[in-house]
Amino acid sequence: MARHNNHVTQTGLTTTRAPFIERCRKRGDTYIRQPYELYSDDNQSTWRRLFDRLEPAWKSYACSKFLSGIDALRLSRDRIPKLSEVNPYLKRLTGFRAKPVAGYMPAHLFFDSLSRREFPTTITVRGADKFDYSPEPDIFHDVAGHVPMHADREFAECLVRISSFAKAAVESAREIPNPERRLGILSNRLKALARFFWYTAEFGLLREGGRYRVYGSGLLSSVGELRHSVEDPKVRRDPLDPKQAANLPFDETQYQPRLFFVDSFEQLYNSVEQFFAMLREGRLDKVTPGGPGFSRDQLEGFLHWNGAPA
Ligand SMILES: [Fe+2]
Repeated sequence: MARHNNHVTQTGLTTTRAPFIERCRKRGDTYIRQPYELYSDDNQSTWRRLFDRLEPAWKSYACSKFLSGIDALRLSRDRIPKLSEVNPYLKRLTGFRAKPVAGYMPAHLFFDSLSRREFPTTITVRGADKFDYSPEPDIFHDVAGHVPMHADREFAECLVRISSFAKAAVESAREIPNPERRLGILSNRLKALARFFWYTAEFGLLREGGRYRVYGSGLLSSVGELRHSVEDPKVRRDPLDPKQAANLPFDETQYQPRLFFVDSFEQLYNSVEQFFAMLREGRLDKVTPGGPGFSRDQLEGFLHWNGAPA
């Protein structure tokens, strides 16, 4: 198909320009397949350039478990990974699987999927014009940034536990009789969850051998910020404190001025448990205002969600 249709060859599966994805969205498909034959030469070349650029930085700044994950899953610079080839390795190691999606997913479906060890995975590749920074997730962020960490047993357990927070927050919010108060409290709890996820799974640091190393996927898929997060003396790095993380708004358009570190994933797991304790004690019912926000529709979506697979 790609050989005979110049338009498809040009467009391929590029983030923001992928007719295949547009058709899936029009049909309302959440989970899709990875039509590997549609990747253009440009898509493959972007993958190789990104990988070549990040690999030396990973060796300097990524945590050792991330590097083991890259090897264990046989991710390579040579071509965009086929999820059907990555998943058997992942399944054997932690039971996780990367599941292709058509793009943005409502947060409750995202966390529900993750709590079932199914990671919603973008399959498009950023355009060459977004080489340094892609505001939308793409396969490089999702597969080269997130998935290698899912190959680690301890981290995978943390992720499942964090994700199950969404369901716990919603179920207890349903018991609040006043509808406006219910939405207000739920909004605060979900804001807290989004921030906790941001400062750990996306931007978390791990202290290894007395040095800061990175396990957060937002950092691992951005060459500039990866180095900055570890080297720049102006970045404030504190031990992970769930209360501080839940109350700290973030701005995703700039390098993060403040990050949190753990000394082990056992410590991360304990922090997740503290976060659950805060939920039970009502300490996440009113957090510091600021991003991210949730619309009324999104909150209603959470409240009416029954936790069944999408
Ligand atoms: Fe991410």
